[in-house]
Amino acid sequence: MDKKEMQAVAELMMQSSNTLVLTGAGMSTESGLQDFRSAKGMWAEKDPIQMASREAMNSNYGEFHQFYQDRLQALEKAGPHQGHNILARWEKKGWIKGILTQNVDGFHTAAGSQKVWELHGSLSRIICCDCGDQGSLSAFREKQPCQECGGLLRPGVVLFGEGLPEKEWQEAMEHLEEANMLLVIGTSLEVAPVNQIPLTFKDRGPMVLINKGSVPWPQLFKIHLQGAAGEILDRIDKILSGTD
Ligand code: APR
Repeated sequence: MDKKEMQAVAELMMQSSNTLVLTGAGMSTESGLQDFRSAKGMWAEKDPIQMASREAMNSNYGEFHQFYQDRLQALEKAGPHQGHNILARWEKKGWIKGILTQNVDGFHTAAGSQKVWELHGSLSRIICCDCGDQGSLSAFREKQPCQECGGLLRPGVVLFGEGLPEKEWQEAMEHLEEANMLLVIGTSLEVAPVNQIPLTFKDRGPMVLINKGSVPWPQLFKIHLQGAAGEILDRIDKILSGTD
């Protein structure tokens, strides 16, 4: 990994008064969770529309339920890694202002980050498919019906074909208006509308990409640190703390 480039990222962060972070599934692979579009990602083995769409939920609840049951089980055996912990510490130090995430694993919050916008919802928040009433994880696990209306239960994540949670999106966009640096970590930027964020941010300040893979608009990024998020964040953290 090029130390000069990491030093340049540290300098950009110190010059910025308001850095936001945007993360995707690549932020949690070092925790042992699969991402979606890498060679061994979830969508290499399964069809997203078959598994994670409203249509799948309505027409094939058994398979839909099993898919999320498996993801909840994987979540139970995993947790935040050093990269999540470093981002939480950077927020406490004021080096970043908050995190917009596509991830539904809750690891940023679990690591102690306070300002987190979960733009694709949260796996562990269970709701009723029909009335939207809150359900419990155990009720979902045991395939119990909604206590309110008897409907089917689902995780509170954004399914393909659904809109993003309005309040989270609105708040995140307002904070993006104020930011003057964007650090994008572990996302292929393949899915709208989140993948439009770098396009709307590009004239507001430098953008840095920390990602193993490529993205559709690499030229938008001042620096692309190609490698594992946890390791790279650790190196930058050491440079910022003067211990590298
Ligand atoms: N460090 C850095 N980058 C990584 C790491 C890692 N340890 N592991 C994987 N990556 C990179 C991959 O190379 C890939 O470019 O992270 C990116 C993950 O991209 P996706 O798997 O497409 O995940 P994401 O961008 O979050 O997907 C967006 O798609 O299916 C929907 O709702 C789902 O929120 C998800 C959305």
